[in-house]
Amino acid sequence: MNIIVFVSGRGSNLQAILNSKELKESVKVIAVISDKFDCQAFDTARKNSINTFSVGDKPGFISYDELITALQQYTVDLVVLAGFLKLIPAKFILNFKGKIINIHPALLPSFGGKGMYGKNVHKAVFESSAKISGATVHFVDETFDTGTIIAQQCVDISDCKSPEEIAEKVLKIEHNILPNVIKSFSEGKIKIIGKRVLIN
Ligand code: GRF
Repeated sequence: MNIIVFVSGRGSNLQAILNSKELKESVKVIAVISDKFDCQAFDTARKNSINTFSVGDKPGFISYDELITALQQYTVDLVVLAGFLKLIPAKFILNFKGKIINIHPALLPSFGGKGMYGKNVHKAVFESSAKISGATVHFVDETFDTGTIIAQQCVDISDCKSPEEIAEKVLKIEHNILPNVIKSFSEGKIKIIGKRVLIN
């Protein structure tokens, strides 16, 4: 199964995908895309001889239309947003209908939506006095973090004394749940029944 991964920074989720023994045989990352000209995740991509594309309306970047054209030479089975901070244009979503997923560092539908990314999420969770947090993998639609939920995994944060401690616990969960969901896609185990997703 061929996947493309959208990133905006560190790329630890991309690294988790590349490190996953479960995915080694069945999943190939064929391109890494960012809204940035360069980022740590691109270093990871280059180390793994994976094509990189910078997409957006800045000089030297390609447009989403050009990206769609560039990707036509491949079979793209799944689009993974992993730490990508921008909204994906509706035209791109339409082109990959039902094949775009995102990892969010909280238990949606709580603590999601515009502006809820990275530290902002964990600060909001910490200040809410919640005793659990976790990660969500969901389908991507036209608005932030509102697509149908595919999988969630929670973690006890009752002993966390800062948002940073929550972030650390949740990131470990992300590095587990995202490769697992990608594997389920590669095995054809993802079934959408009405408003719910079954994995079996
Ligand atoms: C992660 O917490 C992810 O859930 C969020 O962006 C953060 C950065 O991830 N979407 P990464 O280290 O760049 O993969």
